[in-house]
Amino acid sequence: MGFLGTLLWSVLHARTLLLGAIAFLFFAYVFRKQRPKNCPPKPSSLFMLGSFFRLDFEKSHLQVQQIVKKYGNIISLPFGGMHIVLLTGLPLIKEALVHQDQHFISRPMTPIRERSFKRKGLAFSSGQIWKEQRRFTLTTLRNFGLGKKGLEERIQEETYYLVQSIREENGQPFDPHFKINNAVSNIICSVTFGERFEYQDEKFQELLRMMDEVIHLETSAWCQFYNILPRIFDLLPGPHQTLFKNWENMKLFVAEMIENHRRDWNPNETRDFIDAYFKEMEKHKGNITSSFDEENLIYTTLDLFLAGTETTSTTLRWALLYMTLHPDIQEKVHAEIDRVIGQVQHPSMALRESMPYTHAVVHEVQRMGNIVPLNVPREVTADTNLGGYYLQKGTMVLTNLTALHSDPAQWATPDTFNPEHFLENGQFKKREDFLPFSIGKRNCLGEQLARAELFIFFTTLLQKFTFRPPDNEKLTQKFRMGSILGPVKYRICAVPRV
Ligand code: HEM
Ligand SMILES: *[C@@H]1O[C@H](CO)[C@@H](O)[C@H](O)[C@H]1NC(C)=O
Ligand SMILES: *[C@@H]1O[C@H](CO)[C@@H](O)[C@H](O)[C@H]1NC(C)=O
Ligand SMILES: *[C@@H]1O[C@H](CO)[C@@H](O)[C@H](O)[C@H]1NC(C)=O
Repeated sequence: MGFLGTLLWSVLHARTLLLGAIAFLFFAYVFRKQRPKNCPPKPSSLFMLGSFFRLDFEKSHLQVQQIVKKYGNIISLPFGGMHIVLLTGLPLIKEALVHQDQHFISRPMTPIRERSFKRKGLAFSSGQIWKEQRRFTLTTLRNFGLGKKGLEERIQEETYYLVQSIREENGQPFDPHFKINNAVSNIICSVTFGERFEYQDEKFQELLRMMDEVIHLETSAWCQFYNILPRIFDLLPGPHQTLFKNWENMKLFVAEMIENHRRDWNPNETRDFIDAYFKEMEKHKGNITSSFDEENLIYTTLDLFLAGTETTSTTLRWALLYMTLHPDIQEKVHAEIDRVIGQVQHPSMALRESMPYTHAVVHEVQRMGNIVPLNVPREVTADTNLGGYYLQKGTMVLTNLTALHSDPAQWATPDTFNPEHFLENGQFKKREDFLPFSIGKRNCLGEQLARAELFIFFTTLLQKFTFRPPDNEKLTQKFRMGSILGPVKYRICAVPRV
């Protein structure tokens, strides 16, 4: 950051900035544009000002609870001049994301995303670009065995390396974070780049560290302020500049992989996603309205790399933490593994049916881990009505998955890790109020892959190890703030079972 940056950072400490921003937001709010009739209810100015003073960036997603209690399941929140609507409860979420999906299919653009992604690629694009990139990616991933045998074997193969690497810790305390990230990332990397990376590969580990940093910088105060005053913050040093630098580095990595592919490309042989994309680009050659170009290739590949790495690995880190915190539950998983597959056989998706307890535990990890608490935001594409209210084009829509996953009317013990939530008479029970991958036409594109990864990685790790807390170290369930919520840094002991 440099000396000046450090100085500025300490002078303009986040809290000081926060007070300035509160004043700004408040006045922007008081002198806001006239709202159309019949908008969703919004909290009064005084109420909002009060909540902003209580706003704590460490757990901002938990703060709006009082507002929802007071104002209902569809409310609008003024935030730095943006219109945000927050939906709570399954009926409204389904109405928006499934029944009226064409009105809620876009992603909103924040200045941070604008600068990092330029509205291109798959995860943060909208309109024609999104439609074309999504359709092509889905087909291509299917051809590479998404949800089929080939990819399952790839996952099983990777568990071998992960188990080896964890064994090398000899049951001593260690932080599993980047081994798990690397193992999980290798699955999507083998699809996109056609290769996996050794856990000792310094360059790749550095990339994973940058990705992790980005996840946490995105929700930092500085980046929030960047979203409000981008022109000014463009000129200031600070964590937001680290975020942009990291994005740039990750983009360079992907661009380099693409260059390598181009050098030895054989159109007769499609090795991986990048090769398939080359072919698609050829097909659309000369058509300037088509989105199959160099830039979208980079951003779509980057989207897959990111979305395919952080989400599943964060969930697996929650899984090992919960198993360590609940040795009784871990013991039941061990018992089921010993009974159904033993030590020699590889865990596979087909075995899920005969392993209801383990299957339920994986679901409960996702419910409690709650890694995307407010889903990925959507944007209203045309003026529409929802739940009796008028929503303007351009409104940002958040759906509260936390509320869905912790509704006391649906879950027996919402705040406690309890696999029984997904069991009935010893059989696995599907739950409607459970949407960790979201729902509708723009839901998680990698859901099938993620499910296979979660089940096979988790079951193999539990087949091979008993996870215990280190002596004299207390583990907590606290999360670390970020655009994906993971557990705070922890160490565990992995004791080999045989
Ligand atoms: C436990 C693991 C995962 C969870 C909980 C998860 C969750 C989500 C959620 C909530 C969304 C937003 C959907 C919406 O807007 O309605 C999403 C989008 C997405 N996910 Fe996942 N995901 C996981 C794993 C993966 C994996 C392994 C991939 C790899 C292919 C992936 C690729 C994507 C992509 C590309 C999108 C953007 C889709 C679009 O905008 O059209 N995800 N995911
Ligand atoms: C989402 O729901 C949870 C659980 O009811 C609540 O604590 C939280 O404040 C809500 N978040 C938002 C942003 O409404
Ligand atoms: C690709 O296949 C065609 C037809 O089978 C053949 O003529 C051509 O030489 C092949 N190209 C390469 C690079 O192998
Ligand atoms: C060019 O691309 C656009 C968008 O993908 C498509 O709708 C159109 O049919 C293409 N035109 C030709 C001549 O292929």
